[in-house]
Amino acid sequence: MVLRAPRLRDGRAWSEIRLRNEMWLNKWEPSSPHGWAERNALTAWPPLASALRKAGRSGSMLPFVIAYGGRLVGQVNVSNVVHGALRSCTIGYWVDVSVAGRLIVPTAVALTIDHCFTAVGLHRVEIDIRPENTASLRVVDKLGMRREGYYERYLDIDGDWRDHIAFAVTVEELHGGTMLSRLPSLPQLP
Ligand SMILES: CC(C)(COP(=O)(O)OP(=O)(O)OC[C@H]1O[C@@H](n2cnc3c(N)ncnc32)[C@H](O)[C@@H]1OP(=O)(O)O)[C@@H](O)C(=O)NCCC(=O)NCCS
Repeated sequence: MVLRAPRLRDGRAWSEIRLRNEMWLNKWEPSSPHGWAERNALTAWPPLASALRKAGRSGSMLPFVIAYGGRLVGQVNVSNVVHGALRSCTIGYWVDVSVAGRLIVPTAVALTIDHCFTAVGLHRVEIDIRPENTASLRVVDKLGMRREGYYERYLDIDGDWRDHIAFAVTVEELHGGTMLSRLPSLPQLP
């Protein structure tokens, strides 16, 4: 499994997966006045990829795509990157349903958090999850992240303001180790 920056030539793979995964992804994603087909068309990728890369260069985001067995299967986005006294960020993610259940996202998130705590110099990482999203709750559980609070009507998701549970980890909680070493085992390539 590889985490890397999004590329313009990822468009075809990204659009194919996103269109095929509408039922799997739409209910967990930000509300939009545009339909799923429009938001995830091949033509939607170049402006999105450019915006992600620009945000990555400025340091306000760390946008990654997940490649597994050599093909794009999902994304991990680090957003709300704040430096100064807070040195915190928020992580979001998704993966193609055809490879769900292989520990791909927990592994990708562990690598991302380790990167945030080392190269980026952040102190805290937050992940916010709807209480109904049992699969995503398993991700933070496997990573051993600490439940911090409950945000009512926090994010505009799937057409309404949705409550979220906030999970966090600060660098001290790793006691000099890594998030990756917290995972039970690494996924095998098929
Ligand atoms: C949440 C998500 C990213 C987890 O990624 P993953 O790489 O499959 O993570 P895991 O392999 O650790 O699986 C996590 C849980 O998903 C569930 N799961 C696994 N395969 C599944 C499948 N084919 N269909 C439905 N749920 C499945 C299981 O409950 C699993 O927990 P378990 O290992 O204790 O059985 C993925 O389910 C997803 O992309 N969901 C839709 C988008 C989303 O919810 N994003 C997060 C918003 S906060």
